[in-house]
Formats: sequence, structure tokens, C-alpha cells
Amino acid sequence: MIQTATLAPDASGLDSAAAQLRAGGLVAFPTETVYGLGGDARDDLAVARIFDAKGRPRFNPLIVHVEALAQAEDIAVFSPAARDLAQRFWPGPLTLVLPLRAAAGLSPLVTADLPSVALRVPAHPVALALLRAFAGPIAAPSANPSGRISPTMAAHVIEGLGGKIAAILDGGPCAVGVESTILSLLDGPQILRQGGLAQEEIEAALGARVAVGHDNSARPVAPGQLASHYAPNAALRLNATAALQGEVMIGFGAIGGDITLSASGDVVQAAANLFASLRAADDLALQRGISRIAVAPIPNIGLGRAINDRLSRAAAPRA
Ligand code: TXA
Ligand code: MG
Repeated sequence: MIQTATLAPDASGLDSAAAQLRAGGLVAFPTETVYGLGGDARDDLAVARIFDAKGRPRFNPLIVHVEALAQAEDIAVFSPAARDLAQRFWPGPLTLVLPLRAAAGLSPLVTADLPSVALRVPAHPVALALLRAFAGPIAAPSANPSGRISPTMAAHVIEGLGGKIAAILDGGPCAVGVESTILSLLDGPQILRQGGLAQEEIEAALGARVAVGHDNSARPVAPGQLASHYAPNAALRLNATAALQGEVMIGFGAIGGDITLSASGDVVQAAANLFASLRAADDLALQRGISRIAVAPIPNIGLGRAINDRLSRAAAPRA
């Protein structure tokens, strides 16, 4: 166990956070999607510590966070289309998978030794300030133990990783609430993970439909592609129109519940509330001595796609 410092996102907090990163320590920090568990992407030991703290299988490559497109271009090879997308959507919840530059200097653990790399510029003032203070690439998966619900508040991070990481920068709740959309541009645009940037927006920008799948050439299987992931303790029943006996109900739109993702039926608001609602439903179930959660149907449009992806994984049979 180590003492996890909670840092305010001011000049002195950012200084300590950057110093921890330089020393190979781990710092959790807010992004617009979820809290990330950051380590120096060039430092093998720091990256190994990320996997260790999360209890994450080592074959999964991590997303590398940079402060701007210029830094990303030092790490990966950008086609004109990749540059257009980066200029349009960065900073923001879009991760691009691109060919890795041999001289990028990243730890091979970050990319799982693949010839490609996943990059993004987060749209959060604290994340950007940390990237500037550290002045280097930060590898950061979501700051939760592997397989559990992603954190959208500092308290969630402490709950899952307190005592295992050097520090956390507390930047309040995350606005988007689901992880970034991962788009591979290795051979034709393909969405590898639905997320905070809607498929529709990417298609509008490209003027073409994009494939949706996952990279099966790669050894890595996204944790989001494992059967059970983002899992609450209670069992989940999806597309429920009402609670059955012994269930905590999570509502959406006209379908009410103990908790609602969005009373007005707004998928953006629902995404922002998703992970905190799963946690709150778990707590309610515990209080009531029951072990099931029912969730109302969510329309499969815009961020609804990312919500349904996370919900179906959370509902998947547990290993
Ligand atoms: O919103 C987010 O993206 C959050 C916040 C903290 O930024 N980060 C996040 O990172 O979710 P992470 O490391 O958990 O995402 C890793 C996933 C892998 O499981 C894989 O799906 C994809 O990114 N990935 C990374 N490198 C890849 C590569 N070279 N080829 C294909 N997929 C890759
Ligand atoms: Mg994650």
C-alpha cells in the first residue's frame, strides 16, 4: 500500500502530479470521458505499474494522451484524412489508431509491441494542464480495477485504486461519462470501440459510412471486447420496461425507476450519468438485500450506441 494523495487541480497540485509522473509514479486525472490512470508512456516500469494497479491483462495496448496534434505527429504517421479528423475533433473523445513511428520512444508495453498506436488529445482543462506540465506522452486507461465500472468522479477512483497509486487530481465529475470512440485508420476507417464521439459525427466528417468491428489481426482484445466488463456487482437485465420483484430499476425517458439515466430521454445526459448510476444501483441493491438491476431500453443512436455497448458488456455472463 502507498499513500494516495488527492491533489487540487491548481498550480501546486499540477506540479506534484507532473513530478510523480517524472518519477515513474501513477497519477489519476480527469478527462472529459472518464478518469484516466496515467503513467509516463516512455517508461517501461511506469507502464507496467499501470497494468499491475488495474490487475489488467498485459496484452492490452493503452491509449496515449498528448497535448496537441503536433505531439501526436511525433508519435504516429498521420494521413491527410487522419489529420483532418484530428483537427476537427481534438481535443475531444476520439482516439485514433495509426501507424507508430519507430523513433517515437514509447515503451513497447504501451502498444503491446504492435506497429500501431492509439492516440488522443483529451478535452479537459486539467488533463491538458497536466500534459503541458509533464511535457510528454501519458499512457492512461480508465482508472478502475480491470473489469469494473469506469470512474467518472474522483471518489470512484479512490474506491477502486486508493493505496495503489501515487496521486489523483480531483477535477470534479466527467462531462461525457463514457470512454472515447476508438477509430482505426490503419486500413479504411473502422470503429473499434463506440464511445463519446458519435459514429454519426465521424461519418458526417468523412462523408462516408465507417465499418464497425474490432481489430482481430491484433493480439490485443480490448477489455471492452471481453465478455464481462464494466460490471456492477449485481446482475443486470436490459431493455426492461418495469422492475420485477427484487430488482433495482434504472429508468430512461418515460420509463421511470429508482434512478434515471435521463428523465427527458437525452442520450448525452444518459452517457454522462451511466457509470455513476450503475454504482448507485449497486449500492441500493446492497441496502435492500437484493442482487439484480433492471435497465430501461436506450435508443441506439448517437451516444446511445456507446451506452448499449457498455450495458451489454456489463450484463454479460461473468467469467
Ligand atoms: O476515454 C478514454 O479513451 C479513456 C480516457 C482515460 O482517456 N481511456 C481509455 O484507455 O479507455 P484504454 O487504455 O483503456 O483504451 C485501450 C484500448 C484497447 O483496449 C484497445 O481497444 C485500443 O484502446 N487500442 C489501443 N492501442 C491499440 C492499437 N494499437 N490497435 C488497436 N486498438 C488499440
Ligand atoms: Mg476501461
